[in-house]
Amino acid sequence: MIISAEFVTSAADVRDFPRDRLAEVALVGRSNVGKSSLINALVRRKVARTSGDPGKTRLVNFYRVRRGSDPALYLVDLPGYGYARAPRPRAGERPGGGARIGQFEGLAQAYFERHGANTAGPAGALLLVDARHPGLESDLDAWTWLKSQPCARSVVGTKVDKLTRADRMRTTRELERSFDGPVTLVSAETGEGLDELWKLIAKLQSRRTAAP
Ligand code: GTP
Ligand code: MG
Repeated sequence: MIISAEFVTSAADVRDFPRDRLAEVALVGRSNVGKSSLINALVRRKVARTSGDPGKTRLVNFYRVRRGSDPALYLVDLPGYGYARAPRPRAGERPGGGARIGQFEGLAQAYFERHGANTAGPAGALLLVDARHPGLESDLDAWTWLKSQPCARSVVGTKVDKLTRADRMRTTRELERSFDGPVTLVSAETGEGLDELWKLIAKLQSRRTAAP
């Protein structure tokens, strides 16, 4: 399968986001969970910068990718939310629609909010969670918030190469219970789960603005 990928832009402001209405699939997750690494693994090239230090990706990075004969799309690398700090709704705000989630507010939040009813909107969002730490409060809060956004979404467990076979079974069960739906386990290191993830991306892409 031929995969093409190019870095398009690194946006510090909503005004700098691309406007060509290509479908977008955004990667959301805590700092260091492996968002940038996963983009590189998916496209089999180092297009995104990665780091062992949390907080590497601070802007919204757009990569235009195309796999085989599928339509092109943007994979969008969002800044990670707080490493130690759990994103929480502010006092007086309802969880869900009105909730803001810690450091994830700002650019990443603006990214979702810019997609009003009459723009193409992100086709979908992938919430990345570290497979070794299922059910972290910050991830559950991010999931609650994502569910209030008008895009399709799914949960991906990262760094599965760090788990034993037995741990994978247990983790899958825990994650599926915590997030109330199917979870895809992947490794950017070994490539495990990437074919399945591409299928999921194609599915999200085809749903466009439809909220499940
Ligand atoms: P921010 O940009 O800070 O939000 O982080 P990020 O989510 O983009 O994480 P990044 O891809 O930079 O990866 C963080 C660290 O995790 C790096 O040291 C990676 O090498 C490591 N890592 C990422 N994916 C995997 C994986 O699948 N397996 C293993 N073992 N390590 C991984
Ligand atoms: Mg990053």
